Amino acid sequence: MEEERLVSKTVLPQEERLETALRPKFLSEYIGQDKAKEKLEIFIEAARRRDESLDHALLSGPPGLGKTTLANIIANEMHVNMRVTSGPAIERPGDLASILTNLDENDVLFIDEIHRIPRTVEEILYPAMEDFALDIIVGKGPSARSLRLDLNHFTLIGATTRSGQLASPLRDRFGVLLNLELYDADSLKTILLRSAEILNIPLSTSGAMEIAKRSRGTPRIANRLLKRIRDFAEVKRNGLIDEDVAKEGLRLLDVDAYGLDDLDRKILRTMILDYEGRPVGIDTIAATIGEERITIEDVYEPYLLQINFIQRTPRGRMATKRAYDHLGIPYRKDES
Ligand SMILES: Nc1ncnc2c1ncn2[C@@H]1O[C@H](COP(=O)(O)OP(=O)(O)OP(=O)(O)O)[C@@H](O)[C@H]1O
Ligand SMILES: [Mg+2]
Repeated sequence: MEEERLVSKTVLPQEERLETALRPKFLSEYIGQDKAKEKLEIFIEAARRRDESLDHALLSGPPGLGKTTLANIIANEMHVNMRVTSGPAIERPGDLASILTNLDENDVLFIDEIHRIPRTVEEILYPAMEDFALDIIVGKGPSARSLRLDLNHFTLIGATTRSGQLASPLRDRFGVLLNLELYDADSLKTILLRSAEILNIPLSTSGAMEIAKRSRGTPRIANRLLKRIRDFAEVKRNGLIDEDVAKEGLRLLDVDAYGLDDLDRKILRTMILDYEGRPVGIDTIAATIGEERITIEDVYEPYLLQINFIQRTPRGRMATKRAYDHLGIPYRKDES
């Protein structure tokens, strides 16, 4: 099951406390994502100067990259409260109406997985985002009329792993679009050193780099590996995580030099061996290995694309020579 995987990008239940402890509170502590950060700094500063609520912001990107963290930071930097909910949790228009009417002036409303919000609820959101108003119907039948209720100004922050699934009228109502990208190893190294300091884990720079390189561009995974390797370092070594200890620990955890796990390797082998290196559709891959298409698309594919192990072609996904090399399978050009 996805939840039990070491490289799983979703939060494991026992991890929630750790995540809260490690979450940066201010923009200055938020490492990497320079493009998003720069954009955001400008918006925050401008809103502060005008003493207004920040424009609605949409955060998109694969799981574990820091969307929730960033939403919290925005609320902190604006000195306002944040109310948290999620697309699937808002079932009826009335649910959203009651959340909206309870917001204080300039509050942040964070809607996680906003692409899963029901259509009927979405319609309430439009006038709320645009005019800070709620249109409610009173009465029934021919005597029914629509009443407009004013709301406090608020900032909606939506988070989504699939911005492509967002209806365009909803998307268009966000003034700030921030797309989070997978982190490079250097940023992850800095994140790891920061986490180690907070958690009081002796970690050398080279040890941090070793873990960083195998964290699939994802802070959540980096922090998880750090914790697991700490256990190994304490029990089997003298506690310090240096390069050697990191390497040995990662080997025991079955995380390879690129941070790939069994399922990644299964995906690649399927593409290379079962389909002989021809382009394969994502549904075919999913069916062959018995995984959900959405898991492959959201969790596995972005990283395999980033490290150039697979490429997208109009006819499907194809494994690259790098993938063949990594798996030790001879690459024959004529097969592609
Ligand atoms: N830029 C960063 N600097 C330092 N730590 C970070 C950064 N981004 C994320 N983290 C760490 O990674 C963890 C996961 O981040 P977060 O929960 O914000 O991800 P997310 O994008 O909301 O994931 P999901 O899509 O699963 O909700 C946080 O606990 C935090 O410690
Ligand atoms: Mg989140």
